[in-house]
Amino acid sequence: MRPARWRGAAAALAAGLLLGAASGCGGDDRWARPTASDTTQPHAVDVASVPGLETVARSEEDARHRLYTAYPAVPGARPLTERLAEAVDELAAPYRRAAASALAAAPGTSAAPGASVPELNVQWTLTAASGDIVGVRLTGWSSQGADAGESRRTYWYDGRTGQAVGSDGLVDGPSGLKRLADLVRARIVAKADPARVTPTPETFASMAFNDDGDLVVEFSDHSVAPAAPGRVAVALPASAFEPLLSDFGRRARAASLTPRPRLALGADAPGPGGPEGARTPADAPNCAVAKCVALTFDDGPGPDTPRLLDELNRAGVRVTFFVVGTNAAAYPELVRREAAEGHEIGDHSQDHRDLTRLPPIQVHAQIQETQDVLRQITGQAPVLLRPPYGASNGVVSDVARSLGLVQALWNADTLDWRDRDASAVADRAVAGARPGGVVLMHDIYGTTVDAVPQIIARLKAQGYTPATVSDLLAARHVRPGERFSGG
Ligand code: NI
Repeated sequence: MRPARWRGAAAALAAGLLLGAASGCGGDDRWARPTASDTTQPHAVDVASVPGLETVARSEEDARHRLYTAYPAVPGARPLTERLAEAVDELAAPYRRAAASALAAAPGTSAAPGASVPELNVQWTLTAASGDIVGVRLTGWSSQGADAGESRRTYWYDGRTGQAVGSDGLVDGPSGLKRLADLVRARIVAKADPARVTPTPETFASMAFNDDGDLVVEFSDHSVAPAAPGRVAVALPASAFEPLLSDFGRRARAASLTPRPRLALGADAPGPGGPEGARTPADAPNCAVAKCVALTFDDGPGPDTPRLLDELNRAGVRVTFFVVGTNAAAYPELVRREAAEGHEIGDHSQDHRDLTRLPPIQVHAQIQETQDVLRQITGQAPVLLRPPYGASNGVVSDVARSLGLVQALWNADTLDWRDRDASAVADRAVAGARPGGVVLMHDIYGTTVDAVPQIIARLKAQGYTPATVSDLLAARHVRPGERFSGG
């Protein structure tokens, strides 16, 4: 374990405040954190209040495209999970097609340094999770060439019928939707094209309730205001929309306003947990002498992480986890277990955005918030940053330096996201291993976890000592802000 870094009382205070913002407010304008006075922000439920909730994350990265998607799997609401999976696939399909045709047009070439690589980033928040009702809001940021924007969709689950419901299900039939469209048009005439506010489920794809119980209607970028960038949203007071609500809409509103939400879907809810009596960390290997290789696992924690931790425990191996802040907030117990079992935890940003596309203040927020979340969970802030996709520039380096973070990259990529084949992952991990090197994997894939026992066995057979990144750095002189790729 590395010594904790104390950054003063102000930082500790900010940590508490920011954690509250990260888990309590949600909101799509991630960069300008919504204030309480922004009534168009939907209510967001603390994900930790839903026992057994799992996240389904996926990341893909190469020279041609960058993708990170995540959605929740709520126990007892499988039809909702399936609907969310379809929705994420719908968002990813055109993006994947574009990436594939770009590759076909210019095979074998990689994007020029500094060129903007197409990016898709899908995040989620819970808008309600109480009784037999769940609401999940998906925000998908997509950028391809000059086209950039965010799409917004909110899906609901009705435990009474066992069905996933689109946002239009909050409203009473086509006539209710038509009257709602009239209400919305009158309110957004200044910032949108009213003719585009059609009374269809596609247009009204994202509706939820704010903290006051007002109905928030929001639209995807460019959908109702093609000329104006940014989010168009409106909050309608109860007096205006209440007559338009369906029975389900009324129940969903009540569930959103419950002060202490508690889901009761009748599902078994196994929470993540570790074995009794976690081992204490063994003495770190001396990588100035030993033939060390660092195994690193990005993008988690996830549902397969406990299995990985069991395996690492059995093998007596410590690794480095580069966790995504939003996933850490969903699985605080797993992050605690990672730390308690002697593994190193690094910062992989709050939302897994490509940091090279963000202005400095947002780069800072992405990194600092994750530092704060992890400090809250483990009592210790990371000393390593792995920028998502390994994408870094002067701004990222400056922020990393200011926060005392070494940028930890890799020199062996298992491409485990691509083929999900445990033997192929193991072969690439072992083939790519170098003394002092860093191997990139992702613990969000079950096949990667499957590969780990043979990776460790084969590396040890070749005389390697599996280690953490900081074990490697202890034998070197790498300053905060600098990049380290191993080898
Ligand atoms: Ni990643």
